Amino acid sequence: MLDGKKTLFSGMQATGTLQLGNYLGALKNWVDLGDEYQCFYSVVDMHSITVRQNPAELRKKARALLTLYIAAGLDPEKNCIYYQSHVSGHAELSWILSCFTYMGELNRMTQFKDKASKNADNINAGLFTYPVLMAADILLYQADVVPVGSDQKQHLEITRDIAERFNGVYGDVFTVPEPYIGKTGARIMSLQDPTKKMSKSDENPNASIYLMDDPDTIIRKFKRAVTDSDNEIRYSEDKPGISNLIDIYGAATGKSIEETEKEFASSGYGDFKLAVGEAVVDLLKPTQDRYAELVKDKACIDKIIKVNGEKADYYAKKTLRKVQKKIGFPERIR
Ligand code: TYM
Repeated sequence: MLDGKKTLFSGMQATGTLQLGNYLGALKNWVDLGDEYQCFYSVVDMHSITVRQNPAELRKKARALLTLYIAAGLDPEKNCIYYQSHVSGHAELSWILSCFTYMGELNRMTQFKDKASKNADNINAGLFTYPVLMAADILLYQADVVPVGSDQKQHLEITRDIAERFNGVYGDVFTVPEPYIGKTGARIMSLQDPTKKMSKSDENPNASIYLMDDPDTIIRKFKRAVTDSDNEIRYSEDKPGISNLIDIYGAATGKSIEETEKEFASSGYGDFKLAVGEAVVDLLKPTQDRYAELVKDKACIDKIIKVNGEKADYYAKKTLRKVQKKIGFPERIR
């Protein structure tokens, strides 16, 4: 809660090219939920450096992501769309919260274990304390709700634990946030290995639909999607490939699993894959078109970055000063 209004916070890493899972699991819900809340959407570039980045590429990707937020339908007049690295409060609160987080808690984070195994030559402390920075992101804006895909659930749980622990000592300082995980699209799987989640960092480009893929590429990737051989369009644990396509179709069209099964009861996999591909092409087209327009207007994006960065900083400082006072840091002399 900020200024008497319920608050929403979410963010995405500025690494790789956004894939369909990011869109269906998060971005689409941001747009759908936005009207009810005071919203903060961050390009979390500080999180990105837990893995080595090429500086020029990181800068380019961060800007592309910020532009994409707007292209997807987030109005920068109503929503605060900004770079995490432009608001120093994230790092400051992260340090404070790290003194209220236990090593044992961080050790249990599955994303840390996963990323550490993939980056064995660079298991840095930032990778380990990543969830503390994420808690700082959320608590800094007193967020009531955090829309994310289901892979972030554990990070939301630790955020709640840290907030409650801090409040237990100092009184009601932080709003304890609720995750918002959509009914459909919360976990989109790889098109090439449907037991693995779709990911920006997948080496096989056919495994993911990227938000900027053209229609032919999207259709081709769906046609090649790995499925089983029984040709029946039915949602089931033992049919992960087809179940994933039913999920994608449902998230793209708003249709339930039952409706989809009924619609394709007498179709084969070929027809169904084409229909899923076409639904995704239609879903992404408006965002792709707006993105192409927006990137041409450098001055407009620059202004959004400046104005929203300052706005985020204002609210971040409000919480930070409150926290610093509670902890016992000396007051500033004005
Ligand atoms: P990131 O950048 O990996 O992903 C951004 C959002 O996309 C969702 N997502 C998916 N949803 C469904 N299916 C998938 N295959 C899929 N892949 C990704 C993620 O759940 C996420 O919502 N740690 C976060 C970024 C972050 C953040 C925050 C999020 C930093 N601070 C504070 C919320 C609040 C991350 O790496 O997301």
